[in-house]
Amino acid sequence: MRTDVAIIGAGPAGLLLAHLLAQDGIESIVVEARARMYVAARIRAGILEHSSVELLRNVGLGAGVQARGDEHRGIYLQWPGQRHHLDFVDLVGRSVWVYGQTQVQADLVAASEAAGRPVYYGASGVGLHDLETDQPYVTFTDTAKAARRIDAAAVVGCDGAFGPSRAAMPAGTRQTWERVYPYSWLGILADVAPSTDELIYAWHPDGFALHSMRSATVSRLYLQVPNGSNVADWSDDRIWTALATRLGHGHDGWQLTPGPITGKSVLPMRSFVQSPMRYGRLFLAGDAAHTVPPTGAKGLNLAIADVALLAPALGRLVRKNDTALADAYSDTALSRVWRSEHFSWWMTTMLHAAGDPFDEQLQLSQLRWVTSSTAGAAGLAENYAGLPFGL
Ligand code: FAD
Ligand code: DHB
Repeated sequence: MRTDVAIIGAGPAGLLLAHLLAQDGIESIVVEARARMYVAARIRAGILEHSSVELLRNVGLGAGVQARGDEHRGIYLQWPGQRHHLDFVDLVGRSVWVYGQTQVQADLVAASEAAGRPVYYGASGVGLHDLETDQPYVTFTDTAKAARRIDAAAVVGCDGAFGPSRAAMPAGTRQTWERVYPYSWLGILADVAPSTDELIYAWHPDGFALHSMRSATVSRLYLQVPNGSNVADWSDDRIWTALATRLGHGHDGWQLTPGPITGKSVLPMRSFVQSPMRYGRLFLAGDAAHTVPPTGAKGLNLAIADVALLAPALGRLVRKNDTALADAYSDTALSRVWRSEHFSWWMTTMLHAAGDPFDEQLQLSQLRWVTSSTAGAAGLAENYAGLPFGL
């Protein structure tokens, strides 16, 4: 097969990139290792930044967010005995939207199918070749066990943290940075109306807790747990009791309403960056190039920002053989990536119990500052609601 751009991975980065390229008249073929149902069902991120929503709207993908998303002006930050609302709209003129990654993924799949764009699900043995030439190609075996080859002008690795694209850059050409955190999150999905109108990020000596949501009837909540924790050790009762304690049930009359838990999983937390995000005709986007710990909800938004930058660069490369934007892609993208890396690390280390009494006092001091100083609050708001693309 021959196309303009071969895309590896049909997550949000891969499918959105194919959509943006198609709007610019550029063809692509997407190759995905997993089955379509598996990709569609993964429960992951829940918050879209202002710029992500604007982009989705501008490219004809905004109907779902508009109909089923929930616009939030800000978040609550709390520690025992204190709850403060940060109003991002007042602080920086930008809001965020509750709209789950599963919904974003469903909208992208619907657009891809409506346009008849080719996506090969269930591909195995995906390989990247001749990336340093201007005739790179991708090979794989399809679900019918047929060997396939895609020749393209460019290959984009949108294959997440465990795909082959990252490692296809020769060792001497790339640099990586990594931080592993000494705690994980236990995430639950529950069939119960959220007990809050906007997200609550809670510092507590027992560990961090987050009350998020997916809709008026579905809540998403997280608890800090030790690394290596097993969901089998967390009964529904134990989870709701820990959430009630950490989220301040009973304080000022606030109540956490428990309900049937429909999903439980443990998520390890990591920061990771690989640079550059380009090698010859291979470009990396989204989790293929970087990971952030989830505190601050940046992962999905960064993937969207990467492809928003990459699509016009590939358009110029494919149509005019003009490499100016493609050459600038890695540096421009990494500037935003490192901003989000810092913000996610900062939110994570400010809010998680790490067992050090000195750190605990620093965390509380930091929390008092961001909730009482307009400058402190605006800094958090600007990063959380997201900087404009290109910054
Ligand atoms: P992915 O969504 O990972 O998509 C990559 C795709 O590539 C996958 O479909 C994968 O199957 C495919 N692939 C892998 N290997 C191959 C191969 N060899 N060949 C072809 N295809 C391949 N972010 C937040 O902001 N908030 C959250 O609460 C949050 N929770 C998360 C929970 C979990 C368990 C995980 C893993 C991530 C979470 N994230 C969260 C991060 C967020 O989901 C990611 O940043 C986002 O999915 C990145 O999109 P992506 O398209 O770059 O990568
Ligand atoms: C969600 C996840 C996050 O990491 C976060 O900071 C906010 C919300 C969520 O899954 O809803």
